[in-house]
Amino acid sequence: EDATFDAVVVGAGITGMTAALLLKRAGKHVAVVDFHRAADGETGHTTAHLTEILDTPYHLLAEHFGSDGARLAAQASRDAIARIESFIKDESIDCAFRRVPAFLYTENKKDVAEVEREVEAARQAGLDATLTRDVPLPFPVLAAMRVERQAEFHSRRYLIPLTQRFHGDGSALFESTRVLEVKDGSPCKVVTSGGTLTARHVIVAAHSAMNNLFFLQTKMAPYRSYALAVKLEKPLLPGLYYDTADPYHYVRSYASPEGELAIIGGEDHKVGQEPDTRAPFARLETFARDKFGPLEVVNRWSGQILEPVDGLPLIGRNSADRNVYIGLGYSGNGMTFGTLAGMLLSDLVLGRKNPYAELFSATRIKPLAGAKEFIAENVDFPLHLLFDRVASADVKSAADVPLGEGKLMTVGGKKVAVYRAPDGAVCAMSATCTHLGCIVHWNTAEKSWDCPCHGGRYDALGKVINGPPTRDLHRDPEALKASEAAD
Ligand code: FES
Repeated sequence: EDATFDAVVVGAGITGMTAALLLKRAGKHVAVVDFHRAADGETGHTTAHLTEILDTPYHLLAEHFGSDGARLAAQASRDAIARIESFIKDESIDCAFRRVPAFLYTENKKDVAEVEREVEAARQAGLDATLTRDVPLPFPVLAAMRVERQAEFHSRRYLIPLTQRFHGDGSALFESTRVLEVKDGSPCKVVTSGGTLTARHVIVAAHSAMNNLFFLQTKMAPYRSYALAVKLEKPLLPGLYYDTADPYHYVRSYASPEGELAIIGGEDHKVGQEPDTRAPFARLETFARDKFGPLEVVNRWSGQILEPVDGLPLIGRNSADRNVYIGLGYSGNGMTFGTLAGMLLSDLVLGRKNPYAELFSATRIKPLAGAKEFIAENVDFPLHLLFDRVASADVKSAADVPLGEGKLMTVGGKKVAVYRAPDGAVCAMSATCTHLGCIVHWNTAEKSWDCPCHGGRYDALGKVINGPPTRDLHRDPEALKASEAAD
């Protein structure tokens, strides 16, 4: 039902819940709204590295943002990890948090100079980094950067207790509630499937910018990333390990309740651009067995990340809005930057100065930083918009869609997304993404429809899983009838 709060937070992941808890601690009444369950979106799919080793190397950060910018980015990451550690201590949360060393290593001769350069740049940015060849992995490396006092944890075991403690005393968590519109103003309005929420400030922490249809979409690119949890014959020594290969891989330890596991990840690709999404899992398993010998795969999953074109996330006031804030584009550093975003955005709402506000500002324009990436990432949208409509369809008839799979058909010149459930029931939908009109592609591993333009995702029956779209795929039973008649 309609209600009024001091602030509304859209998204109950790491950014949203960190911001909401800090606002509540400052005496504010806060509503958190999530389309799914808390910590069930990308926060639940992360591999939860907490590190100052960022996806953008420090020598590049220094080039794009100056040496002060690189130092601030490192300090911000350190502060975010300390914030998580404090919450864990204050609330006595058992989430397998532990401080561990992190390593950026190479097995390739051609990357050795790059690692040496990065150690130098990282040290200048304030990291406790050293050059070494001594890395506790079961294969030799040629060079590595070792960074002390990094950390790992389990994101859901951390966030769910915090979420449970947040609800009450004038603050509320609304799960299974879809946000339909965010209207800036004084006050702002958040129109949801359950009623309209009114608040002085709104934080959109929904992984994608569902309140910013176009501008922010040009500043980042969506990638899917893959992970395996494995039991090794000889457990990994606690640590975070990143290689320099392309596509890259990482390994981290995890003290699970059942014993030590290793989480092995990587094989990223742009959303909607891998023809068979089971292949990255197979490649990851081959890599894992090559490097670690016999192992048992105990779990596998994929998640989505947004890569910002200039190398740092966008955190701050949404362009053209007065009282709406956003945090997104955390690259592979979601837990570290998500926590930072929660801290920074809550400060902005409270009118407090934050030392990182300018560096991460969501309205920054850096014409040179990331210019190449900006062009490379933004050709995808017009290309897919134009050519996917006329590309040949996967199947001619709904009868050709295998059980439990989705395929594209062309009916009356239009692309139709057809899903056949395991029991044989068929669902036909328009394949046009409700965000900006690209054609969605079937994701075999996740059983979802993924949009290659800005990473919007829908479940097999067309319901939105991931923004920017807020509306489901349009059901099209007529297309099905037309195709059956044509048969
Ligand atoms: Fe933007 Fe589909 S057109 S997510």
